[in-house]
Amino acid sequence: MPVIKILPHPEYCPAGAEITAATGTSICEALLDHHINIEHACDMSCACTTCHVIVREGLNSLNVAEEEEEDLLDRAWGLEPQSRLSCQAILAQQNLVIEIPRYTINHAKENH
Ligand code: FES
Repeated sequence: MPVIKILPHPEYCPAGAEITAATGTSICEALLDHHINIEHACDMSCACTTCHVIVREGLNSLNVAEEEEEDLLDRAWGLEPQSRLSCQAILAQQNLVIEIPRYTINHAKENH
């Protein structure tokens, strides 16, 4: 099973974390299964951007992003070339290193 290393995030996992999840699971599901409660406002139906993650290692092992995901990502806070919507990014065999952005579009609206 692939290992996902999550870089420290002040709210979700201050010390960072390392989890394993089955191939075929979305990154979002894997995080939630391990009590890393990333936002997923649209219930993983590719209709918000709150589950945005940046895949620092292993990006190419994931399924290719559909156009719908790419369009939504354009609106995500802190977009980077390695950005994915975690509910749409499906684990293959390879290990990943991911970063959860500090804010989501919801936070950005509320606080900034
Ligand atoms: S949870 Fe809304 S796009 Fe992933």
